[in-house]
Amino acid sequence: MTIYEGKDYKDLSKKAAEIIAAEIRINPGAVLGLATGSTPEGVYEQLVEWYEAGELDFSKVTSINLDEYKGLDGSHEQSYRHFMYQHFFDHVNIKKNRTFVPDGTEMNSEKACMEYEEIITQNGGIDLQILGLGANGHIGFNEPGEVFIPETHCVKLTQNTIDANSRFFESREEVPKEAYSMGIRGILQAKKIILMAVGKQKAQALYDALYGGISPEVPASILQLHPHVAVFADGEALTVVK
Ligand code: F6R
Repeated sequence: MTIYEGKDYKDLSKKAAEIIAAEIRINPGAVLGLATGSTPEGVYEQLVEWYEAGELDFSKVTSINLDEYKGLDGSHEQSYRHFMYQHFFDHVNIKKNRTFVPDGTEMNSEKACMEYEEIITQNGGIDLQILGLGANGHIGFNEPGEVFIPETHCVKLTQNTIDANSRFFESREEVPKEAYSMGIRGILQAKKIILMAVGKQKAQALYDALYGGISPEVPASILQLHPHVAVFADGEALTVVK
């Protein structure tokens, strides 16, 4: 596992973006596994900048996102699909029909999850997966629990997450209570993985993920089993916490 400590957020975002850019140059038809959240925003910004400068071509790229809120349509401002359009898809030449996000409008969870597994399989799995890290050690919406869940599944959001999200919605009732998330198998089968962590609120989770025992209590700790993980973090996230 390679660990890169960025001088600052811009620096580590650029370094992570360089890996993605290299992947696309080597393999123009790459399947990228993408994440939402504040951590990868700088990566998307950098990739858009290089695209606008004519240095990158996304026309043959496929993307498969980690997760989506159940019940939210892609046009909803808080949906993860909307996030991806806003930060990335609308600004590069990726073909929109080659961008996959779990279908939040499918209320039959079993169907939604099975269809997403099929999408992952049909595309031959992920070449390069980008991951953020939850302060509780989650990756995607794979929350701490008693077992690692291999396949795409429907997650009941914790009250903490619902409360934290309520600031983005007009009323508490509107906040989604569930989400669809790619499982651990889809993530671990990626050929290469970039794990990003920024800020001291991620320090404990990052330390546990990198140096603790492998346990579903810290979902990101399973990445210790993967042969090609590169970690991009800032000094605060890399603070040693024991
Ligand atoms: C988002 C996702 C989540 C986030 C994590 C960190 O698609 O899969 O696991 O990566 O919650 O979120 P931020 O980056 O907002 O701190």
